[in-house]
Formats: sequence, structure tokens, C-alpha cells
Amino acid sequence: MLIKFENVKTEYLPDTEVKIDDKKYLIHGVINGEDILVDTDSKYPKLKEIIKKSPERIEDGCIFQNECGGCRFMHINYEYEKQLKQQFLNDLFKPFGFKNIPFTGMENPYNYRNKCQMTYKLSKSKKVVSGLYEEYTHNIITVSNCLLQSEKANDVINVLNKVLTKNKIQPYDEKTRTGIIRHVYIRYGFNSKQLMLVIVTNGEMFPGRNNVIKDLNKENIGITTIVQNYNSRDTSIVLGDRERVLYGPGFIYEYVSDYKFKISPRSFFQINTNGMNIIYNKAIEYAKIKNTDIVIDAYCGVGTISIFASKYAKKVIGVELNKNAIVDAKINAKINNINNIEFLADDATNFMTHLAKNKEHVDVVIMDPPREGSTKQFIDAIGYLKPRRVIYVSCDPKTLKRDLYLFSDNDYIVKRIEGVDMFPRTQHIESFAILERDNEIDELEALVRKNNTKKYNENKIRYIPKADIEMMREDKYEANGFKNNKKRR
Ligand SMILES: C[S@@+](CC[C@H](N)C(=O)[O-])C[C@H]1O[C@@H](n2cnc3c(N)ncnc32)[C@H](O)[C@@H]1O
Repeated sequence: MLIKFENVKTEYLPDTEVKIDDKKYLIHGVINGEDILVDTDSKYPKLKEIIKKSPERIEDGCIFQNECGGCRFMHINYEYEKQLKQQFLNDLFKPFGFKNIPFTGMENPYNYRNKCQMTYKLSKSKKVVSGLYEEYTHNIITVSNCLLQSEKANDVINVLNKVLTKNKIQPYDEKTRTGIIRHVYIRYGFNSKQLMLVIVTNGEMFPGRNNVIKDLNKENIGITTIVQNYNSRDTSIVLGDRERVLYGPGFIYEYVSDYKFKISPRSFFQINTNGMNIIYNKAIEYAKIKNTDIVIDAYCGVGTISIFASKYAKKVIGVELNKNAIVDAKINAKINNINNIEFLADDATNFMTHLAKNKEHVDVVIMDPPREGSTKQFIDAIGYLKPRRVIYVSCDPKTLKRDLYLFSDNDYIVKRIEGVDMFPRTQHIESFAILERDNEIDELEALVRKNNTKKYNENKIRYIPKADIEMMREDKYEANGFKNNKKRR
């Protein structure tokens, strides 16, 4: 059955909620104000037709959008997508007093990914084909030209598929757990033009491997290195833990700003090289690092931000959980002739707590945690260390917001928030916040200390209880002739 819904409403995401037989369903791929027809015959009701189209709708997006689910904004013109993202940030961060958060879009919102991966299957005509998982399933949709991947990666995948078909390399079958090739994984240096092809196989066996490499090299399509990664686990995680280099050095270099970075198959590297350059330069500019500063780069990955910051700081300490990334980070510092960075493999919270316990001196913290955000313990440790500025780079504004409240509890003021569209056409948003210590708190703390020399200084108590600071604030306000009604978080 087809049901018509008029003037549908959407919020940030292009989804609308419809009610069918008293049940609520989300319909994807719509734009605010459109009239739509919903098909209720399939397992879940889905969009059948747009009867009245929004002027913001475009028709030249990706033909796989509805099945693949990766790019939620492909049917919307890019200017409107940026407006929606900016509005989302404005609404989210309103409690911090921000109404018009700057949002930087990308010059080209397509073909920006420097990393891509696809999964293999055998087509009905017995060809080796690659594609992406259909949303919420393990069905593979054949995708020959992903609009987010670099054009170079699309070309290489199409050639690889021909070569695999010619050499009769069997794709892996998830049900029977047989077959050889599971995934293709590519890292591409847009600036260096170096390309790493990683062929993920079901275990070490790769019969026909030499012919595949020979045929790929004959095509002369700019592959600079080929790695075989073994993954025989029953998992949808693409890369296994072991690999061998089949051709070339097993890694690529990429240039960003004035620096050169080594990227190996498993090291984290921001997927949008251009966007990364924009956001890191902004973060460094707002960090206002001085040449006497000790800077912490927490969640440092392969050390990109540390390297950007090193030019301005006395010393940078980068901390990261992934040991391989730290190996690469050290190499990155070396190839850029940088001597004032120390890289450590550790949990960022452990490390920060250790610094706080040892009463170390820190001037600026730059942090770029994964989507889950940071931890209360990490932020509390910053509260003890009292760096004058914190730059929080985030790939999930919601966890950023949660963590900003924790920073407020630790007497930091959010001075600025900006968004950068690192992931155009998808729902994801990169943003960063600049936090500064509330100087008034430090002044009050100094007053408490001065007035209670014996209690705090002689007993070497470093951290003054919040209640004492609040009491001092009351006294100060009263001495100035007005009551402090300001409720602090
Ligand atoms: C968004 S990435 C940022 C990487 C880095 N800033 C860069 O651009 O290369 C987050 C990083 O945090 C690391 N990570 C995740 N959990 C961590 C933890 N508990 N402690 C330290 N690093 C962690 C991940 O391995 C990843 O490299």
C-alpha cells in the first residue's frame, strides 16, 4: 500500500517520522516541507516517491545512496547541507551562549576520502565485484564509483576487480567462510600521489598472488605499494592484525602543510586531507602557543597535531593508545627534523592523571579524542593541571558538548566553537572548541590561599576546595556591594 504524507518535517538529519497504524517509523532521504509517498508493503515502510520536491533537492547525487546509507545528504544541495550542519551546531551549543557558530565547508564536497575500503563478492555472472554493505545488513551492494572516494581509488579498484576475475581469485563467502579475497583497502596521498593497496585475504593463503601483482603493475595505474593483510576472523572489521608487504615499501608518505607524514595500513590518519589541514591550522592559531610553552597533544595518533604545534612550543608531548601509531609518530617527527616532541604510548586518561599526581607544569592541551569523547577523569586531571588553554578537536559534537560541561565544572570557559565540514555528504561533523581557564577562579584561589596561609601553604595543600573558593567569591561580591546570585555549573 502507498500512503501520502504532506509537508513532512525534518530536523538536522533528512529523516521524517511518520505514523502508520499507530506505529512510528523513520523515513530517510527526505527534505523538510516535501510531500512524499511511503511504501508500506516491505518489512519496514520506505520512501517510494517524492510528490512535491524541495527546491534544495538535487538529482545528480549517488545512485546507491538509499541502499548504502553512508551519505545521508547526497540528495541535498551542498549549500543547504552546510546550513543544516551549522544550525545543528548552533542549537546544540546554545546553552554555552553560542548563536552563530562559524562553519567552514569544503571547496569540493566529493572525492575527498584518502582512505577507502570495499568488500568482495561474486556477481551473478561470476565476476569478482566489490561494494559496500547495505545499511544495517551484511548484503553487499556493488558500487563501481563511490562519490566520496578519490577518483584514483575508484580507478584502482575497478582495475583490481578485472585482475582478480582474470586470475580466478575467489571472493570470501561469509556464510561458508571459504574463498580468498575479503576486502580491498586503499590509502591515497592526494598531495604525494602515492597509493597503498591493501588486499585483505581470508588467512595467509593467496594462490595466484604473484600473477595478481604482475598484472596490476602492468596496468601502470600509480600503485606505489601493495600489502596483503590476513583476516580469517568471523568479523566485519576490515583489517586483521598481521600482514606482509607484496610490493614497494608497505607504506606511503603524504604532505600536509609544510610537513611530511608516513601512513601505514593501520595508522590513523584523518580521512579528509584538505579538511585536516584547515582544522589543524585553525586549532594551532587559536592555541596561541608561546615558545616557552609545554604542550600536551592527547590522543595524538601519528602525531600530526604535535608536529603542527612543535614549531611554536618549547616542548610537545604526544600521547596515544595505539602503539603502531606512536611508532609512526616518532618516524614522522624524525623525517620532519623535529626534536622537541616526545611521543608516548599510553592511555590518555592514565597519562593525564599521572601528570596531575606529579604536579607537572602544562601550558596548553590539545586533544582530539575518538567519537566517544574523553573521560571525566581526564578532564578532572586538566582541572588540577590548570593549562591556560585547551583546544578540543572533536568528530562528534554531542560528546564534545557532554565534555564541555565537565570542563565548566573544572573552571574552564568555552571561548569559541567552530565547525569544519570534514565529512561532506555524510551526517558527521568535525568541530573544535577553545577553552580558557576562568581567571577569576584563579584569583579567588590565590586570595583563599593568602588568607589561610597556615591551612593551605604550610600543610602544602595544593588544591583548594571549591566550597572555600565559592565562600571567597561571596565575600568579594559582598565587599563590592552586591550579592552574587550567579549560579555556576
Ligand atoms: C580522532 S583520532 C585523532 C588522531 C590524531 N589527532 C591525528 O589527527 O592523527 C583519535 C585517536 O585517539 C586514539 N585513542 C583512542 N582511545 C585512546 C585512549 N584511551 N588514550 C589515548 N589515545 C586513544 C586513537 O587510537 C586515535 O588515534
